[in-house]
Amino acid sequence: MQISFAAPAAKIQAGSWVVAASAGGVLTEAAQKADKASGGAIARGLKVSRFAGKSGQLLEVLAPAGLTASRILLVGLGKPAELDEKGLETIGAQIVARLQSLGETSATFEIEAPKGSKVKSGEIAAHLAFGARLRSYGFDKYRTQNLDEFKKRLNEIRVTTPDVAAAKRAYAGLDAVADGIFLARDLVNEPPNILYPVEFARRVKALAKAGLKVEVLGEAEMKKQGFGALLGVGQGSARESQLVVMQWNGVGAKKKGAPIAFVGKGVCFDSGGLSLKPGGGMMGMKGDMGGAAAVTGVMLALAKRKAKVNAVGIIGLVENMPGGDAIRPDDVLTSLSGQTIEVLNTDAEGRLVLADALTYTQRRFKPKFIVDLATLTGAIVQTLGFEHAGVFSNDDKLAQRLRDAGVYTGERVWQLPLDPFYDKMIRSKIADVKNIGGANSGAITAAQFLKRFITDGQAWAHLDIAGVAWQDGEQKVQVPSWGTGWGVRLLNRLVKDHYEG
Ligand code: BES
Ligand code: MN
Ligand code: ZN
Repeated sequence: MQISFAAPAAKIQAGSWVVAASAGGVLTEAAQKADKASGGAIARGLKVSRFAGKSGQLLEVLAPAGLTASRILLVGLGKPAELDEKGLETIGAQIVARLQSLGETSATFEIEAPKGSKVKSGEIAAHLAFGARLRSYGFDKYRTQNLDEFKKRLNEIRVTTPDVAAAKRAYAGLDAVADGIFLARDLVNEPPNILYPVEFARRVKALAKAGLKVEVLGEAEMKKQGFGALLGVGQGSARESQLVVMQWNGVGAKKKGAPIAFVGKGVCFDSGGLSLKPGGGMMGMKGDMGGAAAVTGVMLALAKRKAKVNAVGIIGLVENMPGGDAIRPDDVLTSLSGQTIEVLNTDAEGRLVLADALTYTQRRFKPKFIVDLATLTGAIVQTLGFEHAGVFSNDDKLAQRLRDAGVYTGERVWQLPLDPFYDKMIRSKIADVKNIGGANSGAITAAQFLKRFITDGQAWAHLDIAGVAWQDGEQKVQVPSWGTGWGVRLLNRLVKDHYEG
């Protein structure tokens, strides 16, 4: 989909003319103009509909008399004082959702700031466009039939604004973030026979053209260095495990200081291993690399918008399978940190992968902070459902910053405790730690396990994204696919608000 910004035109020649009204059905100037040009069709429409200008409400006037536009779409902005960036993105997505379902091919948004709005006109245009683009995503590459139904037909949006330069400036950064989100969604949506660790690594390597420095460690190298936990998970699979290191150096080598670090769980398929998942629970486990996808997506976004920050992204890529070489419940693995781990359930594999990835990240980069992302536990889904990811942290400032970024972007997080009490639950009878806790508080014991691999003084936050990396039930309007790309916006915002410049 093509998105462009332009000054308001005298008349919309073709496609949909999208104008706005605020709460109470108060038409903005462009909407009044459209009403006049259509001989009062909007005013009549208001009388015969429920449209009240609520945020995202839509009123359609088809083939309006006296105009060449295919339709006028009136969209509600809600109360002007409550209009914010997130709300505008939702509105942009709602418009596209409707136009897409109508089979429209092009549209012009003429949505100016309603009286009393805090958001400036350039920003309004940019955030509407961002939401519109997020909704335009589709993952239809494996369909060969009914292409008509799935083909995205809306291919052009012009967003008019009195401040074209400001809109373009604001949108440039958002467009880069959308690229990162789309990449993360693609990676999560890909089936596991296509996207296995080596293929994932290959796709990351291709991001070098965006300015990322990418290194890949294969099994031989990891074995030499002692990645016993990560390699243990991968050893039942016919596919080779990989560790991928991405670097974005936006500050320049001289005054760089410590980078910030993102670490992702990349289990390309989680069968559970010998502790095999039941059939129903195994479906969707291609998405168990959602943490790695988010890390890759945010690294691409930072590179594309040339963020003034030095960041590293490290992802552990494995497939958890019950092959003849697979790790057994009762095995003891020696992790890269030197700590030994008694594996009592091979389905608690994500923490094993992260243990080594976290150790590697700290030893090599000594980062300012680490945020790891992982579809780590079913327990977090039982606890928080689909509206919040869980956050666990040894650093209150970092946790607060993540919570704030969540509120701004709509990718919200809710903090849960770390505590020595829970640490007792992962004591092993024969090794340093075991990889499962008891029957209860499963998301917390998983986080507590990770903490064993964080050295004293290292600021760290763990995001358990098992409930938000994909969506099976109700769809979010900006997310028209199974894979959500959750985390790209959140982390980008964290960087933008606190770690740039
Ligand atoms: N990848 C799963 C967690 C998961 C479950 C993500 C459902 C998304 C939806 C993880 O590897 C896992 O299997 N965790 C186990 C841990 C248990 C064996 C201690 C779980 O949550 O059941
Ligand atoms: Mn598992
Ligand atoms: Zn898993």
